[in-house]
Amino acid sequence: ASTLGAAAAQSGRYFGAAISRGHLGEAQYVNTWTAEFNGVTPENEMKWDTVEPNRNQFNFGPADAIVSQARSRGMAVRGHTLVWHAQLGGWVSGLDASNLRSAMQNHISQVAGHWKGQIYAWDVVNEAFEENGTRRQSVFQQKLGDGYIEEAFRAARTADPNAKLCYNDYNTDGINSKSTGIYNMVRDFKSRGVPIDCVGFQSHLSSNSNLSSYQANLQRFADLGVDVQITELDVGGSGSGQANVYRTVTQACMAVSRCTGITVWGVTDKYSWRASDTPLLFDGNYGKKQAYSAVLDALNSG
Ligand code: G3I
Repeated sequence: ASTLGAAAAQSGRYFGAAISRGHLGEAQYVNTWTAEFNGVTPENEMKWDTVEPNRNQFNFGPADAIVSQARSRGMAVRGHTLVWHAQLGGWVSGLDASNLRSAMQNHISQVAGHWKGQIYAWDVVNEAFEENGTRRQSVFQQKLGDGYIEEAFRAARTADPNAKLCYNDYNTDGINSKSTGIYNMVRDFKSRGVPIDCVGFQSHLSSNSNLSSYQANLQRFADLGVDVQITELDVGGSGSGQANVYRTVTQACMAVSRCTGITVWGVTDKYSWRASDTPLLFDGNYGKKQAYSAVLDALNSG
């Protein structure tokens, strides 16, 4: 196949990109997205500060603009994200425990409910672990305790029973303390019937990232009975070094049957959150980079 999405679809996978509402007026941006990708994650538009800027006052328009274009083209939509310590409405952090709990429940029920039936997978909880494998001391952790993550997953299942429910994090690109902390949580959730379906590996990488246990790490999670997804892939660098890392990650996903798709964190280098690292598959003029060919080849030979 000659596009990323079509190549991924040959094995039943998706290949998505993070998309920003603010660039939808640019024809080359939209054309590249819709020609090459069959999946999307709104880069910021579903985050708490955008969708619920004030308590129980919801703003779905920016994300709807992306979701409607994606759905009309049959793309898989990843919802990002319901519970995260960053980009949180300022009003949230001042709540006491019982108000925070009900605000979190209401947020999940309203947001996941709004897109019920339209989301392939939700990042229900994002970045809740520290590098050493312990829980991050977020406002949710401090006020609600360890149980907030499973409470969030149960609320999400109720709000949208058909969406796959994921835990998502970064620096989990191999078997390390952080990924092991998450692994232990997922194993516990599966053993107790907490509704979790997938784990997202953000994969913000660079040309010299050590990926020696990348595939084995995906596989150990899959062996717990969850899907795995590469959710925010980007690789700082250029040329063959960058292309090789993209190839390794793509091949790892293709080698793990429960790795259901890959999302890159943007379309073009010029709009990347780390633009100076030129980390994406298309350059600032939408030219295909060496990394693009490496990914396409790996998808086609899987
Ligand atoms: O929308 C405002 C705009 O009105 C204003 O003029 C401008 C001035 O700085 O800021 C704009 O908001 C920015 C927003 O991106 C949209 O461009 C925020 O300042 C900026 O903080 C925000 O950054 C996003 C970042 O998450 C916030 O934490 C990045 O775009 C986004 O790529 C990044 O994505 C995260 C994932 O959600 C989770 N994993 C890590 C990943 C990279 O940090």
